[in-house]
This record gives sequence, structure tokens and C-alpha cells, in this order.
Amino acid sequence: MAVAGDQNIQTLQEYMRGLKSTGAPCSHLIAILHKTQELYGYLPREAMDEIALTMDIPRAHIWGVATFYHYFNLTRPGRHSIALCMGTACFVKGAADILEAIKNKLNIDFGETTGDGLFTLQQARCLGACGLAPVMMINDKIYGSLTPEKAVAILDDYASREKKGVLHTGNV
Ligand code: FES
Repeated sequence: MAVAGDQNIQTLQEYMRGLKSTGAPCSHLIAILHKTQELYGYLPREAMDEIALTMDIPRAHIWGVATFYHYFNLTRPGRHSIALCMGTACFVKGAADILEAIKNKLNIDFGETTGDGLFTLQQARCLGACGLAPVMMINDKIYGSLTPEKAVAILDDYASREKKGVLHTGNV
């Protein structure tokens, strides 16, 4: 990805310039990483290099901080983010079977993205919908009372709508 000259990197540079005159560069690192992820959806290597250069912070330190916090994504997320709840209520109602079905279907594990860039699978602790357990959230939509078959059908639906260029809009 060519970062130089793109709108995101210019925004990031401006943001860093605004911080540079106030306090030690390292004290702003978390805020800068948040800003980077807000702009890109993850932390691209080129943006990390730009942070090192502009803020004069060693690359190793930046990567150390970025990998320490699970909040930060180091790889480009898929077009659809699946958060499968493995919290107690969902686990008791069969979340492990749902996970197995999703893994078999997409051939990815937690924290990974499918080769076609369509789905990223994340683990959630509780999505606040325990009454509908087991539950997964795709982007900002909750899908409850899942069975392995239902979960796979939902993923198939996303994939087929993607193929047709139709945006998915409804909960199941
Ligand atoms: S434990 Fe899964 S939604 Fe609460």
C-alpha cells in the first residue's frame, strides 16, 4: 500500500504535528496509535514507520506498545467483522459448536481474516444479549439463538450478497 501522499497519512501527520510541541513524544504514542487505527481500521506498517519518523520514537518501541494491547489490529480487517460470543451464557448454550462450524466454514481462527478479505473472526466475552445465547455479531448486527447450521447459513448469505454487490441490512 502506498501511504505517502494519501489522505490518511496527511491527517495523521497533522495530528502528530499538533501533539509534538506538547510533552514527550512517547507520552502521545497510545493516542497516535488510536488515531491511526481510527483512520485505517488497523495499524499499517507504513503508518508505523511514519510515526517513528515524525515523533522520533524507535520502531521497536512502537511495535512493542502496539502488540501489547489487544485493542490494536496489526493486520487489515476483513470487510465483515464477526464477533462470536464465548461468554458464559453463550458457552453453556453451545458457542463452542458455533465456533467449530465457523472455523470449518471459513478456515480461520480467532484473530484471523479469510484469504478473500471478506471476514475477520474475533472473540467476544459478552455482547449484552445473553437472553439470545448463543450469539454472534457481524459488523453491528446481532444474530441470536444460533445453531451451527444457522451460523453457516448467515455467513453464506453475507458471501452471496457480497458476490452480488448487495449490502446486508437485516438481522436474522
Ligand atoms: S454471554 Fe454471550 S451475550 Fe452475554
